[in-house]
Amino acid sequence: MQTIKTAVIGLGVISEVHFDYFKNLEELKLTAVCDINPERVKTAAEKYRVKGYTDYRNMFEQEALDAVLILTDHFSHYPIAMCAFEHNVHVLCEKPITVRSSQAQEMINMAGKKNLVLAVDFCLRSIPHYKKIADIIHHRLGKILRADIIETRYFRTMAYYKSAVWRGTWKGEGGGILMNQAPHILDLIYWWFGQPEKISARLANKHHDIEVEDDVEIFMTYPEDARLRFYSNTWETPAGEYIYIVGEQGILSVNDNEMKFSAFERKIKEIINSPSDSLKDQISHTEKIEKETIPFSSQYEITKNFIDKLLGKTENLLVSGKDAAGSLLMANAAVVSHMQKKEIILKNFHPSEFDQQLEMLTSGKQRLTSRD
Ligand SMILES: NC(=O)c1ccc[n+]([C@@H]2O[C@H](COP(=O)([O-])OP(=O)(O)OC[C@H]3O[C@@H](n4cnc5c(N)ncnc54)[C@H](O)[C@@H]3O)[C@@H](O)[C@H]2O)c1
Repeated sequence: MQTIKTAVIGLGVISEVHFDYFKNLEELKLTAVCDINPERVKTAAEKYRVKGYTDYRNMFEQEALDAVLILTDHFSHYPIAMCAFEHNVHVLCEKPITVRSSQAQEMINMAGKKNLVLAVDFCLRSIPHYKKIADIIHHRLGKILRADIIETRYFRTMAYYKSAVWRGTWKGEGGGILMNQAPHILDLIYWWFGQPEKISARLANKHHDIEVEDDVEIFMTYPEDARLRFYSNTWETPAGEYIYIVGEQGILSVNDNEMKFSAFERKIKEIINSPSDSLKDQISHTEKIEKETIPFSSQYEITKNFIDKLLGKTENLLVSGKDAAGSLLMANAAVVSHMQKKEIILKNFHPSEFDQQLEMLTSGKQRLTSRD
């Protein structure tokens, strides 16, 4: 059996989720582990009987690796991935791909130049009901007219923000909910609807003693004035998910575990212009969207797909670097929109605008303030 010699860099919380499924992924041969924390290296190296490193550069020099999983904090994804590419190593990176769209583009270019794979762990894309929603949006809803997406599954305590020094800071995390939790949903939005034409955002810090936002609302405008509103926070509990998408041929709704697609009898425009004012027959039928279980975890599915791609078993990556960069640009534009109190036209948005804005925030020259 052909195996992929793989290292793991970053031995924190999410690494446990990844290590857990390695036993079910025989083609992934764990070869080395790396973290700047020597105790974590010692524990993992002993547990998995592999070599341990505290400097990823040494590891890339000394190990003949095929692939690496980058599971470190956000700003380090870029230098580590670039170093991996220099050593001809394929990369699967935790989300977000990195903080700055400008650097994401460099990662994509470098992987392309070296003919290496760059995949990103936007693991919601491997969940069956999100795939079904994608299919309905792409093939059955018709032209999208409006959408509302409210995600409150990301409740975090202050203990969470204090659990690692990088969390909850501009310098360490590159943002708050918009850079850490909401990227999963922005990725779904990008996958389902593509990039909007315009973005207008409001960020706020409502209930946590942190410098970054714990509350975000983004208004997106798509062609022909179709509107999408996205809202999320890390202060609300219990968790909820509410998605309501109106297309010209039906409505798709998710209310926590209740998911359904209602198809219209005719296109909405025809219903509006029909001679009768009766609304009785506008829905032809309603289908439930069931949740299905997956064998291990959503992260497993992403890594399996990455390994399959390296082994030539599949052509398609579930989430490429380019896919991940699409939603990052939206997140970067949202920060600029909020801080500069303006609507962003994405085709005119240059990543350097975010880089400059981030510099103001990380240096403390500017703080997150309310938009109004
Ligand atoms: N896909 C998901 O559902 C999911 C869930 C949680 C976290 N994440 C992502 O995973 C990443 C890590 O998050 P976490 O919660 O595990 O963080 P963490 O702080 O628990 O762990 C990060 C680890 O990386 C190490 N590290 C930092 N810089 C390093 C470097 N230069 N070289 C080697 N090691 C280094 C740290 O010492 C730490 O052990 C983040 O990008 C986060 O957004 C993804």
